[in-house]
Amino acid sequence: MTLIRERFDVVPVSHDWAFSQAKRSDTTYITHGYHRYPAKFIPQLARRLIEDYSEAGDTVLDPFCGCGTTLVESIVSRRYSYGYDINPISILISMAKVRRLAPNLLNEVFEQIQLNFGASTTKPPKNERIDFWYKSEQKEELARLLHVIRTIDNADARRFFLCGFSNILKNCSIWQQKSNKPTRDFNKNIPDVMRTYARQIRMMLRGNIAFLELMNGQAFTANVECRDSRKLPLANGSVDLVVTSPPYVTSYEYGDLHQLSMLWLEDLDDLRAFRQKFIGSALRRIDSENKDYEALTQSSLAAEIGAKLETKNGKTASSVVSYFQSMYEIWTELYRLLRFGGKVCIVIGNTSLKGVEITNAEVFVEQMQRIGFDTISVIKREIPSKNLPSTRDKATGRFAKTADADAFAYPTELVLVLQK
Ligand SMILES: C[S@@+](CC[C@H](N)C(=O)[O-])C[C@H]1O[C@@H](n2cnc3c(N)ncnc32)[C@H](O)[C@@H]1O
Repeated sequence: MTLIRERFDVVPVSHDWAFSQAKRSDTTYITHGYHRYPAKFIPQLARRLIEDYSEAGDTVLDPFCGCGTTLVESIVSRRYSYGYDINPISILISMAKVRRLAPNLLNEVFEQIQLNFGASTTKPPKNERIDFWYKSEQKEELARLLHVIRTIDNADARRFFLCGFSNILKNCSIWQQKSNKPTRDFNKNIPDVMRTYARQIRMMLRGNIAFLELMNGQAFTANVECRDSRKLPLANGSVDLVVTSPPYVTSYEYGDLHQLSMLWLEDLDDLRAFRQKFIGSALRRIDSENKDYEALTQSSLAAEIGAKLETKNGKTASSVVSYFQSMYEIWTELYRLLRFGGKVCIVIGNTSLKGVEITNAEVFVEQMQRIGFDTISVIKREIPSKNLPSTRDKATGRFAKTADADAFAYPTELVLVLQK
């Protein structure tokens, strides 16, 4: 196993995988700018992997589709695609982003929304969590806006406008703007709801038109569904390529980050239960009686990491082992779904918790080799502008510990390519 670890440490950085020339307009082109999403990868990376490892007409899968980057790029590259995610907000965003809609329809609906908003008298929902995050003026306006959007008959158009609504919720709340952590900022300058929404929708309308023009009538689309990807409704051998970036362990609480959208759109009543559904959540633990970490994770490296962590903090050890256990289930499912010769591309960084190195990439490769995958390529790339919690030490220029004291920044990440 040391072999794998050494090999990854010495992998040189491949500078042509940084896409450092990509401007914001490139990373948000067509529908990619519809909605922010933590730890999304850039379209240029997904596109290159899709084009390098599959052919036009192939089927691409992303089992952690997030905001649908792989799916949109599969469409652009003329591939069929499937995307799954445990997060209903991810599905809302992805569905909005993969569909091309008639601009006339969207313009008409938008005019109607603006007219009806003025006339709406809907009262805000009675919800402590909404009260926690919103001042009364924005709360009332958002409630009226949401009510109007919900009356749109056409399901695709409704989803488009709900996606836009979801993306302004953070701006219009007292959630500290630059923070991924749920922190309130009582001095925040909160913008006007309808003006913010109109700007959001105009951006999306331009994105939709650009996507239509780019596709020029070609009918490629993606299937998107809210699922736990440890078990997927696809046939054995039906997938040619997987392109994905998995969740990190205890790094992002996705359940937390999407709580504003969940509160308004899905009636979130139990945040803890919602958070627990996400692989990588600190709330997921193993059965405390079972200490055979290697049997649980099918990785000697994961077992070592678990044992080291146990000396620091038993709960963290349990969450990390549970994470690797879930990831093993994911790789097993992907092996079933891929055709022989089909490939998996995984974008992942290594990190550190309680001073213990969490070598995700090495663990994944060990687990996948045990299942029967062969490693084709390990690419190390720099992450020039990824939205990750990082700080640099001014004196040394090194990446340093983040404010939450546990996680390190990921200045580089690995792209693992394996084959069935
Ligand atoms: C790093 S993000 C993926 C971002 C994506 N590549 C993009 O560009 O938007 C990881 C995703 O895994 C999802 N996830 C966590 N547990 C899951 C599970 N059990 N099944 C499916 N998706 C899950 C999270 O909701 C999150 O969207």
